[in-house]
Amino acid sequence: MENHKQAQPYELLVDLFLSEESLDVSATRDSSIINIKEVVRQSPRLKRFAGHADDFVKPVFIDKGQQGFVFRFEHNKRDLCLKLFYDYQAPYTVQERTLAFICPFACEARAFARLCDLHENGHWAVQCHGWMYLTDSQLQQLQRVSGRERHDPSWNNARWAIVKDFIAEEPLSRQDEGFQQIISNFVIPRRGYIMPQNVKKDNYRGTLIVDLGSTFTFPFYRSYASLYEFNAIYRSIDEYGVPEWDGCH
Ligand SMILES: Nc1ncnc2c1ncn2[C@@H]1O[C@H](COP(=O)(O)OP(=O)(O)OP(=O)(O)O)[C@@H](O)[C@H]1O
Ligand SMILES: [Mg+2]
Repeated sequence: MENHKQAQPYELLVDLFLSEESLDVSATRDSSIINIKEVVRQSPRLKRFAGHADDFVKPVFIDKGQQGFVFRFEHNKRDLCLKLFYDYQAPYTVQERTLAFICPFACEARAFARLCDLHENGHWAVQCHGWMYLTDSQLQQLQRVSGRERHDPSWNNARWAIVKDFIAEEPLSRQDEGFQQIISNFVIPRRGYIMPQNVKKDNYRGTLIVDLGSTFTFPFYRSYASLYEFNAIYRSIDEYGVPEWDGCH
């Protein structure tokens, strides 16, 4: 294993965005009781995947994207999906703390944490089961099922992962009944001060978005995400719907 060097500093991420408690999915879905101002005042902290210490059962490689490798596996008889993030290198020098905010793992963790805090887990985005930091043996298990991709240099220092439901459906088309739901569900991230930046058909399965690695969850560094941009994005969704879909804008 070449993965002895620590990836993104563990302590820092756990301090900023992650909680060591396990995520109880059923407790994060009922959206009836929320004081949004109170929720936004707290820093969003994602809880840990309850099965984080277990071996993966029947892991299957699904895909690799710009941010990570994606796998399916079984847990308590459910099909789950794990996105293992590549070690993130900022394109220019930034402080470690800033890096911890802008890396795709943290962006995705913060967004799912906010959705859980709002009791909206699984309503706009796929239901999240929490974060995990892979052990050597879990990494080896995934690498073994990755075919040609097992030699990809992106495995170096990849440790951080987010676990979600696996959704077998394809993304909807504009013509499909239910497409309107995709648009109207944007009230949820808007209420949660989550700014999406990569809304496209590829990031959807059924009516749910599966990729939150390019979102910013407020409060955030002004130089990366301003409320002005946040409002502009939602105004554009109100006026034009979602931008890229079925090859048309
Ligand atoms: N929960 C899921 N259920 C089923 N398929 C999924 C799930 N999550 C991701 N996928 C599939 O894996 C692909 C890559 O996942 P994701 O978009 O999270 O990774 P990424 O690195 O951000 O990819 P990209 O750079 O292409 O956007 C998705 O486009 C989708 O086809
Ligand atoms: Mg994607």
